[in-house]
Amino acid sequence: MLYLSPNAVIRMTVARDDRITPLKNDHKEIARQLDILRKAMAQSPRPSSRELGRAARRLASLIQRHLENEESTVYKPLSLTMGRHSPTDMMAREHRSIRQGLARLASALGEQEVNDARIEESRSRLASLQEQISAHMETEEKVLFWLADLKL
Ligand SMILES: [Fe+2]
Ligand SMILES: [Fe+2]
Repeated sequence: MLYLSPNAVIRMTVARDDRITPLKNDHKEIARQLDILRKAMAQSPRPSSRELGRAARRLASLIQRHLENEESTVYKPLSLTMGRHSPTDMMAREHRSIRQGLARLASALGEQEVNDARIEESRSRLASLQEQISAHMETEEKVLFWLADLKL
């Protein structure tokens, strides 16, 4: 039987929180940036498509960094601990689909000025991406991070 001193328990709690808290903070920032881009695409007059493209690429790299962090700090350890009972395979498939969606959005806006039809198409792409990402982050906060707290 392993007995932990009260200090050890505190250290473990801090270490566990440190894994999840930055990811939750990222979620807030990602939701905020998605909103900013969605509003920028809807406003009139609209920023140039070059500016929108730059904003989409910045957003894509923010999300990309988050997904990588999450995969190394939560997904892989949970998958190793829980094996086939881990829900991370399904969630990792969502990561792939989010990455593809972001790449398509950034390339549709591209480096050059694009026409209104392309912007409209990108607006609806962004709206569905925003929905997908927000549902994904909600599942992580309700299920995956809770499991990580419990199992890691
Ligand atoms: Fe995720
Ligand atoms: Fe996440």
